[in-house]
Amino acid sequence: MAQAVWKISLTILYSSEEYKIQTYAGEYRDLKCLIQDRLFTDDFGQCGGMGRCGTCIVRIGGLKENSAFLRNEETTLHRIAPGIDDIRLACQIPVDDELSNLTITII
Ligand code: FES
Repeated sequence: MAQAVWKISLTILYSSEEYKIQTYAGEYRDLKCLIQDRLFTDDFGQCGGMGRCGTCIVRIGGLKENSAFLRNEETTLHRIAPGIDDIRLACQIPVDDELSNLTITII
């Protein structure tokens, strides 16, 4: 059996702890799924990835500014955190090379 190649490395800050995560494109549908699976966070991602509840809010330093907002993300962020630029909904962020070497803070 071939061994998985870890191509995406990222750091997640959660409850004053730092987690070094390695994954690969296609292992998780989105960043919310990765965080729930690896960190066992409480009350994270309550709407199951619809982009409406805002409980999967994260700060991503260094994510490309042109990273597209999907579905309801822009409306939800405007409702729960107007005027804050560097936050995103983890359920709307695909896990791909764009996340490599970035730091994600669960807020
Ligand atoms: S899981 Fe509800 S907005 Fe992301």
